[in-house]
Amino acid sequence: MAIRNIVKDNDPILKKKCREVESIDDKIITLLDDMRDTLSVSNGVGLAAPQVGILRRVILVDTGDEILELINPVIVKQSGHQDSLEGCLSVPGIRGHVDRPKKVTVQGYDREGNLMEYKAQDFVATIFCHETDHLDGILFTDKATGIGKEK
Ligand code: CO
Repeated sequence: MAIRNIVKDNDPILKKKCREVESIDDKIITLLDDMRDTLSVSNGVGLAAPQVGILRRVILVDTGDEILELINPVIVKQSGHQDSLEGCLSVPGIRGHVDRPKKVTVQGYDREGNLMEYKAQDFVATIFCHETDHLDGILFTDKATGIGKEK
């Protein structure tokens, strides 16, 4: 287990589309472990693999109760809208408002290869959307209005 550096700001890696994970091998397990360590020492609520420089479809979401690990996550259902005030570990010091779904249903594989489904709303729905966007090279600043410095 190790803490990895978080890729920041205008690094082109953050704009790239990530590849799907085809098999959950030792490298992916180590990535998940390291992402957990990295998230635990940062002040974040989620982390996507490209933020540690790995272009694979892997995210972590901190629901407040637990940290969910999702491999190849897909938002299979969404409804409603919310105005979400967001920041990002890769874009430090900046916040902005993003129009996000109020509720989402997300599917993805856990580290044992089980297909899992999670339903989330409000803040946790936002985290799922924000982290999944990272896998397609989309930052919240690409979608946000009223971007400003964190107070
Ligand atoms: Co982010």
